[in-house]
Amino acid sequence: MENFNYYNPVKILFGKGKIAEIGKWIPRGMKIMMTYGGGSIKKNGVYAQVMDALQGFDIVEFPGIEPNPHYETLMRAVELAKRENVGFLLPVGGGSVIDGTKFIAAAICFEGNEPWDIVAKGAKINAALPIGTVLTLPATGSEMNCGGVITRESTKEKLAFRSQHVFPKFSVLDPTVTYSLPTRQVANGIVDTFVHVMEQYYTFTEHAEIQDRFSESILKTLIEIGPRLIQDETPNYDDRANFMWAATMGLNGLIACGVTEDWSTHHIGHELTAFNGLDHGITLAIVLPGVMSATKMKRREKLLQYASRVWNIDPTQPDACDQAIARTEQFFNELGVKTRLSDYGVGIDTIDRIEKRFRDRGMFALGGIDDVNVDNVRAILTSRL
Ligand code: NZQ
Ligand code: ZN
Repeated sequence: MENFNYYNPVKILFGKGKIAEIGKWIPRGMKIMMTYGGGSIKKNGVYAQVMDALQGFDIVEFPGIEPNPHYETLMRAVELAKRENVGFLLPVGGGSVIDGTKFIAAAICFEGNEPWDIVAKGAKINAALPIGTVLTLPATGSEMNCGGVITRESTKEKLAFRSQHVFPKFSVLDPTVTYSLPTRQVANGIVDTFVHVMEQYYTFTEHAEIQDRFSESILKTLIEIGPRLIQDETPNYDDRANFMWAATMGLNGLIACGVTEDWSTHHIGHELTAFNGLDHGITLAIVLPGVMSATKMKRREKLLQYASRVWNIDPTQPDACDQAIARTEQFFNELGVKTRLSDYGVGIDTIDRIEKRFRDRGMFALGGIDDVNVDNVRAILTSRL
């Protein structure tokens, strides 16, 4: 196991009815900016619950943060927050609303001229407004991490940033708020969580037994509850609760402690969203099987561990690695997620653009291991047509 520092300051308020508690955790006297998306929270009663919990607070609203939040939209929120002298940010929504609000929090306090540099150049963030989140879509882990992913619509760029200053002060995880999710978003969330774990687990065998078994437990939980989450006519509280907690635990830094991480599937997937607008989860379901096939020699030992412990495949069988990759893709398909670029009308022209973009950025390795790189990204994507 490698050395590591682990720090996670996010207070989690988990369970039915927990939105009612948020007033306790927001300092009195601060004007709150509540951010949200396209209106799902007004239909499912979450907006009303938040408003009830915040009686007596001074609130300004910023609706309209879109999926894959746009820099252009977020900068309008920065202006509003400055004008209104906002002191606390409350995103109510999925990863896009939370990520977007993390960016707003950092951009308000940014000392440079161009806040886009936060994502484009990794410009240093010295401060950010405090944030508390109400999560409505289990998927990204944004509610318990310090990262965000922002899209600049005008240039079709989608880039990530991180800063300890944007860790939420608290996050509310009430599984009942997920009951209104469309099946497509439930499937996206399961795939995203699955792939987050794979990015931190499917690398090398590094004798990090706790992290490995923790990762395997998240994967096996998703495999067990995933099909039920998709098929259940009436949502089951415990399945929703396990899904929500799996997503949070999948990307709060714990399983990354002391191990090599990859993230190449995400880097490639972000380009597919930037150029073609595909849902984040869908891009990962397309790319991961290609990345696994391209890396199966170098990462064979870990792939066999995955095959055996997660899928109960006999690792002594000569095709155990291929079976594990096939089972992974089949799992995504069983959730109703198609896993070929052609299923979404994406062709070779996008592959050309993605390869060129990575070359233009001067990247060689696309993740933490150099077996996925600018020289084989074309072959990986072509294998997914
Ligand atoms: O906008 P509204 O009306 O709220 O509708 C949303 C949106 O259309 C809807 N939705 C959310 N909760 C709902 C609901 N509909 C009904 N009932 C509910 N309870 O779902 C749609 C998608 O929402 P979005 O927030 O975009 O989805 P997700 O949570 O999957 O977030 C995706 C974004 O997070 C980034 C992705 O790249 C993408 O931009 N990621 C962030 C990460 C992080 N911060 O650590 C890591 C991830 O790998 C990921 O890259
Ligand atoms: Zn993701």
